[in-house]
Amino acid sequence: MSLLRSVKGGARAPLVIAVTSGKGGVGKTLTTVHLAVAAQRLGHSVLILDGDMGMANVDVVLGLQARYNIRDVLDGHVSLQDIIISGPLGIDLIPSGSGISSLTSLTYVQQQQIIDQISTIEKSYDVLLIDTGAGISDTVTHFCKAADKVLVVTTPEPHALTDAYALIKVLAESHDIKRPHLMINQTRSESEGLKTASRISEVAMRFLDVQVSHAGNVPIDPQVPKSVMQRRAASEQSTFTIAGQAWTQVARKLLGSSEPSQRVDAQDFWRCLLWQEPVRAEGAK
Ligand SMILES: Nc1ncnc2c1ncn2[C@@H]1O[C@H](COP(=O)(O)OP(=O)(O)OP(=O)(O)O)[C@@H](O)[C@H]1O
Ligand SMILES: [Mg+2]
Repeated sequence: MSLLRSVKGGARAPLVIAVTSGKGGVGKTLTTVHLAVAAQRLGHSVLILDGDMGMANVDVVLGLQARYNIRDVLDGHVSLQDIIISGPLGIDLIPSGSGISSLTSLTYVQQQQIIDQISTIEKSYDVLLIDTGAGISDTVTHFCKAADKVLVVTTPEPHALTDAYALIKVLAESHDIKRPHLMINQTRSESEGLKTASRISEVAMRFLDVQVSHAGNVPIDPQVPKSVMQRRAASEQSTFTIAGQAWTQVARKLLGSSEPSQRVDAQDFWRCLLWQEPVRAEGAK
């Protein structure tokens, strides 16, 4: 049993982290993949759910080709287990693509079928990472609401910051998510990252009464686009790059600061996602 599971008192529910952003293109997918690599190297088994219906591309970044996705499961062609693909370093992926938005509008019987299938699968994982896609659509906010932790990714660029703040506001005011984590990506210096994070944190505390937790900064690193081009983002080498080391620190922080999951069992994340029921104690995030 891994450290994370024992932290949770033996419950077999994986820690669910939703990686999200206000503005697109700020580095969610790469953050998801690098956090997965880091978590795996720290001894945790990891499943990624590609929840970005507009630009589902975790499979591409992992150097994989998805044959099926959630749509095929909903259409009844294959089981959920059948669509999971194994990536580099033992990271598993549920490719979901355009089917993902349908998850929140299923019939009761369909929901129950998905939940039954999921319960057998997710017991094998310590961490479930979700690349939610950008913005404040229902699919994105549903994922955030159902997750144990929400990681908002932004760059220091003004538009990205404004959109990150707008997302934090919606998550707080409409979905009661009051303790999001924040990662500043593509920073030009550590002080730029720290200043950016404290600006958002101060404004969120002052105007929203939201406590934003700074998960760390990842510098702009020319190795990152190179590794994407070579389809080697999820490799051991990528953890030795400057950005890779920073992502590992972010993973340590997110996994290390694990409060016990509020979810009772492994199915609760999915129940919450599909039914949008409050399954955890208030103020858990
Ligand atoms: N730390 C970094 N250093 C250099 N380039 C980076 C860094 N992080 C991300 N990038 C570059 O930014 C681009 C966008 O990253 P990514 O695809 O992860 O963003 P995204 O938020 O998932 O985008 P979308 O909203 O379209 O899904 C990538 O091509 C990647 O090469
Ligand atoms: Mg993406």
